[in-house]
Amino acid sequence: MFTTRFDLSMLRFMNPVDVYVKRLSDLKTAFLDTEVVENILKRYNPPVYIVEKFQTSNEDNNLIFSSTTLFPGTVGREFYFTQGHYHMREFAEIYFCLKGKGILLLKNNDDEHVLDFEKGVVAHIPGSWGHRVVNVGKEVLVFVSIYPTNAGFDYDRLKNEGGFRTRVLTHREKGWELWTQ
Ligand SMILES: [Fe+2]
Repeated sequence: MFTTRFDLSMLRFMNPVDVYVKRLSDLKTAFLDTEVVENILKRYNPPVYIVEKFQTSNEDNNLIFSSTTLFPGTVGREFYFTQGHYHMREFAEIYFCLKGKGILLLKNNDDEHVLDFEKGVVAHIPGSWGHRVVNVGKEVLVFVSIYPTNAGFDYDRLKNEGGFRTRVLTHREKGWELWTQ
């Protein structure tokens, strides 16, 4: 058993044990327009999101807490997103949005769902569904996720399926729109 503290002004765990940054270069094949990605990377390699994990045990069937800070930004017309993954084992996950305005994309083979994901929304992601968060706002989007230690990340399955067919693009009047491949 344990408790930890989440800093509600900084929106991060006080004592993460693992921190990593996903930069544009880590996601360059995930965006629709790889030419735009290459052009940006000639100049700089912006961070797209930061993940901070709090975990007390590697043993199966414990829980990992993590926070993700997804920056606002676009590649061409496509909004920044998290890479997205399926779990290796069909364990569910909780996402709790603490700040910002976004979209939660869920995918199970050819079936895709689009859910509003903004401050205050708590989402239950069933175990068999791949998941990605897109930031459609002008500020950072922060969410906490809680999932089993042995869920595992399966990035290859998503890649082999050609990624999410649903994309979230900028729109002059509406702010954003969905586009399906
Ligand atoms: Fe997950």
